[in-house]
Amino acid sequence: MKPSNRINQFGESIIREMTRHAHEHGAINLSQGYPDFDPPQVIVDAAVAAIRGGENQYTVTWGYPPLRARLAELYTPKLGRTLDPDVHVTVTCGVTEGIVVAMQAVANPGDEVLVLEPAHENFRPAAIMAGARAVPVPLTAPDYRLDYEMLASRVTAQTRALLINTPHNPTGRVFDEAEMAALIEVVTANDLVLITDEIYEHILYDGRVHVSPALHPALRDRTIVVGGLSKTFAITGWRLGFVFAPDALASGVRRMHDYITICAPTPLQAAAVAALDLPESYYTELTESYQQRRDTLLEYLAEADFRALTPEGAYYTIADYRGLSVPQARLNGMDFAMWMTRDVGVAVVPMSSFYSDPSLGEGSVRFAFPKKLETLRMAGERLLAIR
Ligand SMILES: Cc1ncc(COP(=O)(O)O)c(C=O)c1O
Repeated sequence: MKPSNRINQFGESIIREMTRHAHEHGAINLSQGYPDFDPPQVIVDAAVAAIRGGENQYTVTWGYPPLRARLAELYTPKLGRTLDPDVHVTVTCGVTEGIVVAMQAVANPGDEVLVLEPAHENFRPAAIMAGARAVPVPLTAPDYRLDYEMLASRVTAQTRALLINTPHNPTGRVFDEAEMAALIEVVTANDLVLITDEIYEHILYDGRVHVSPALHPALRDRTIVVGGLSKTFAITGWRLGFVFAPDALASGVRRMHDYITICAPTPLQAAAVAALDLPESYYTELTESYQQRRDTLLEYLAEADFRALTPEGAYYTIADYRGLSVPQARLNGMDFAMWMTRDVGVAVVPMSSFYSDPSLGEGSVRFAFPKKLETLRMAGERLLAIR
């Protein structure tokens, strides 16, 4: 009995593996990116009310109609094009499913899909599942900028799409105008589809604002935007995402979604309408609280002799551990992450797991900080005890 050839092209997720190690060793889990605090009470109440109120069967495959209507209303100005909830909007089981269906809808076997690296672990398998090949486009330390020459050099006759993520996990980069211009040039000159994962659109620092690449007129009809509610509303376990696809690709996205999951959980989609109705003050408080979390962790990391990157968005920081004055500073990333989990009591992810060539990520680990300040302080004290 042999598994498919396809499945042999990727292993299990190291991020999720680190969470299992964190549980096993009772470590503070700064590996996988999920909150240790509750979502807003109003949306929890809305979910309970939806279940009690009978919203327990499949929704229309494309998504609960009031949710699609609300998404279309909210994102029409953000994307600068009229989103028809009955054509362009599809509600998925998280961004994870959104990326899979987008990839399935655009890539043919043998196609190449450009993926910025370091990359969220799910991107490469999503390309492989579509029969395509993920071609890495490296963003390099210390500033992890998207470089035009590098991007253009990876395009071949087989390139079909470019998958990006901004704000970016794990670097915390928010691509600026010059990087966007490079991206637009490469995508349009080579007739590519752009797939953008914008799951961290509301988690930004130092007054930054999110601008979707799809807003640019040249990209409007060739961009699939994938967004989600996991991070913005601290509901990673609800599995809610959404896809906005242009006319030419919308039906394909919907058919893929139909046969992969039928629909996202109905009562939670109903509660998502309440989430999207939260006032502007919710988003102000969100950015303020994340700013505090980021700054708290960065202070501890600096004091503990980690060299950490200051993220512009998302909720991770990459930290180089090679300057620590303990023998473990010479371990490879995976062994260091295991030592941190087992002996220091703080679980992290080796940066090597974000690259198709793991050697590129050696010497640093990723810390996730969607945590209560008290959790981050407790983790910080453990880091200080390393010295
Ligand atoms: C860039 C990125 N995309 C997608 C996901 C997963 O999103 P979802 O929970 O909506 O499936 C994550 C989670 O960490 C992420 O960092």
